[in-house]
Amino acid sequence: ETAKPWGGRFDEPTDAFVEAFTASVGFDRRLYREDIAGSIAHARMLADQGVIAADEAETIVGGLEAIRERIEAGEFEWRVDLEDVHMNIEAALTQEVGDVGKKLHTGRSRNDQVATDLRLWLRGQVDAIAGELARLQRGLIEVAEREAETILPGFTHLQSAQPVTFGHHMLAWFEMLHRDHQRLLDARERLNVSPLGVAALAGTTYPVDREATARALGFDGVAANSLDAVSDRDFALEFCSVAAICMTHLSRMAEEMVLWSSAQFDFVDLGDAFCTGSSIMPQKKNPDVPELVRGKTGRVNGHLFALLTLMKSQPLAYNKDNQEDKEPLFDAVDTLAGSLRAFADLVPRMTVKAENMREAARRGYATATDLADYLVRKGVAFRDAHEVVGRAVRHGISTGRDLGEMELTELQQFSDAIGADVFEVLTLEGSVAARDHIGGTAPARVRTAAGEARQRLERL
Ligand code: ARG
Repeated sequence: ETAKPWGGRFDEPTDAFVEAFTASVGFDRRLYREDIAGSIAHARMLADQGVIAADEAETIVGGLEAIRERIEAGEFEWRVDLEDVHMNIEAALTQEVGDVGKKLHTGRSRNDQVATDLRLWLRGQVDAIAGELARLQRGLIEVAEREAETILPGFTHLQSAQPVTFGHHMLAWFEMLHRDHQRLLDARERLNVSPLGVAALAGTTYPVDREATARALGFDGVAANSLDAVSDRDFALEFCSVAAICMTHLSRMAEEMVLWSSAQFDFVDLGDAFCTGSSIMPQKKNPDVPELVRGKTGRVNGHLFALLTLMKSQPLAYNKDNQEDKEPLFDAVDTLAGSLRAFADLVPRMTVKAENMREAARRGYATATDLADYLVRKGVAFRDAHEVVGRAVRHGISTGRDLGEMELTELQQFSDAIGADVFEVLTLEGSVAARDHIGGTAPARVRTAAGEARQRLERL
């Protein structure tokens, strides 16, 4: 039989299955570093406030540091009967330093403790994720600059629409991720607030200095209400929302990479290091990394819904339900971090097949809008121009040629407003270069936009 830290009011031992069912140490031990950091800040504050003696605090701190080393050396014995990371470490502390360890939990509860641990842990993860996001964003800017002149068909309805530059497409991806980055940093502000010192729910009778522990732990401020401080999990919800949106963006990028690397598109080569083969079909090179990122988006969306459903209708303040916040949050963090890392490595090394892209743009009548705009400049109303070009395209389809490959006289059958200068707008280069305004696909604009993107990223 094991003594529980809360055993005083109980007559019977915990049912063995219930012990395992209610335990969280199997997953929340991941919070050990933050749990120890929080305990050290709390112990020192108690000493500064005269609640415990200074030498008692230093004994506690020394014991906690020794425990941290044992955990990191893989020599710590995690006990399911001690339920969670908090009680495992506290029990080990008393074994380590003797009875003085029993003073650590003065003026504290596991409720403010776990909320503090989780916020500290998530803050570290958010910073790491922001770093990977920035690395991917920088990679996109580099590809955008390198491929500012590379032309491919832009699509709507996945049908060739108008030519765009590959650099422009990369900067569209950048914008999606930039908003994710902003959302992440915005969520970090509300995340970085200290619940420590409110104890179980109502506050504590000891003269705690919550601002001191907040400062020691790098928080920007303290939670204003004790009931809210222990029961709020908005920070986890916000992170999972940001993660789900970001994964959604990654899944869209993934889908395009899967399409582009197919034999039918053949726009890019993803690099052997990022693909795998087939056990039966010798010719295969499968785009596993983008496919997996696309697939993993589902689980992050699921974690967001798990947390929303977990929090729905919970009465104040702490409920054991909240123990269920960790596994979805941990997996959302791991999945997003891994997906970003994979793309940050893969995307800049993707080989662009410019000739194939160009040929696809040429085949798709991607300059049809340019011809219509040309006719408008010659005085034709846009609707009439649209009709004229539609007939010219139909003629092109039946004779197997692009608009730019027809004779002038042939084009003039459709409108006498067409002159010899028409061929300037029917080139792919002319088409993209003409879209020369903020947000347009002209190579010169793409270069400017890439430079601006780099500055916006640095300024975040
Ligand atoms: N393991 C618990 C959790 O993850 C720690 C807080 C327990 N508090 C309590 N009153 N039972 O939420």
